[in-house]
Amino acid sequence: MNARKRAAMVGLGGQATSDHLPGLAQCHRAELVGVCDIDADRVAAVAGRHQVPGFTTVERLLREARPDFVIAAVPHHAGREVVAACAEAGVHVLKEKPFATDPHQATELAGLCEKAGIELMVTVQRRFHPVYTAGLQLLERIGSPYLVEARYTFHRPDPAAGWRGRAKLAGGGCLADMGYHLIDLLLWYLGLPDRVLAGTSAAAVPGAEYDAEDTALVHLAYDSGLYGSLLVSRSAGPKTERLAVTGPHGTLAVERGTVRLLDPGGQVVEALRREPAWPCPPATLIDRFCRVLDGTAPNPSGPAAHLPHAAFLAAAYASAATNRPVEPREFPA
Ligand SMILES: NC(=O)c1ccc[n+]([C@@H]2O[C@H](COP(=O)([O-])OP(=O)(O)OC[C@H]3O[C@@H](n4cnc5c(N)ncnc54)[C@H](O)[C@@H]3O)[C@@H](O)[C@H]2O)c1
Repeated sequence: MNARKRAAMVGLGGQATSDHLPGLAQCHRAELVGVCDIDADRVAAVAGRHQVPGFTTVERLLREARPDFVIAAVPHHAGREVVAACAEAGVHVLKEKPFATDPHQATELAGLCEKAGIELMVTVQRRFHPVYTAGLQLLERIGSPYLVEARYTFHRPDPAAGWRGRAKLAGGGCLADMGYHLIDLLLWYLGLPDRVLAGTSAAAVPGAEYDAEDTALVHLAYDSGLYGSLLVSRSAGPKTERLAVTGPHGTLAVERGTVRLLDPGGQVVEALRREPAWPCPPATLIDRFCRVLDGTAPNPSGPAAHLPHAAFLAAAYASAATNRPVEPREFPA
């Protein structure tokens, strides 16, 4: 095996602490060589704990720690500057979702990555989970799909907290944030819808100051006749995650860690369960990215693959603002 790649962590908040830093400690192909955050106290604490140099600007981190790649887990509004700095320095990026906050930014960043010749992989974990891969294989068994129902919900007591409560900073609300995973699954399995009609609300905590939607319902329509909906909420529990696609020969139902094929009457024909449902450690994702950099594994989640996500989100938000169906393919306009 090649020498371990030099990895640097940018953004030392919740996702870095819960996933990426433990993942780096467990992975086989990379080692942590530096950390960065605009919060100097966080930098000091994490750098001390991991015995690596810490920085408060990405540019200094890139110059002095000389990483092969950066793991970027920053608020959505800060993603552009981090990716642009890495591209400028020729450093690869494992980017926390979303790839970008709007279609123009997505096109711009895809161009920057291509010009710089860097790899960028967006962390959409379901692409690397065998149950979801099996779901795609089983999809052909139901015949031409005519109905899709998707739902991803959980309850957060304070939807106004931090940058996530501000649509401008987060590039939207729950749809752009947690909904990105469900949109990725939808696009992976069924492609970009031809029309969307969306409704959103930020009404779960009356009196709280926030404008990023806590709940979104998106109706989907494809020219093939397939239609359905996607419900995302970070205020309406219980925690659920489900995608069901129905065709003439049955239904494919994917839930966290389980995929089932049902006959048209709803009886289970076959099922696959992963136990534990969600081990998929971040270490696996980091090692996979190292293989992408070595040229020994493909990158299923690069910039070009994420342009449709930005188009879907822009269309959904335009639809919610105008109360009209919008075609994602119009974006970027
Ligand atoms: N894949 C998943 O399941 C998953 C889960 C949670 C979060 N995320 C993603 O991870 C990212 C971070 O989310 P989080 O919950 O950790 O947020 P957070 O607010 O907890 O942490 C973000 C950190 O980035 C720092 N920061 C802000 N601007 C910066 C800059 N310009 N340079 C360096 N650091 C900067 C902040 O000071 C903070 O410490 C988001 O993109 C989010 O969507 C993904």
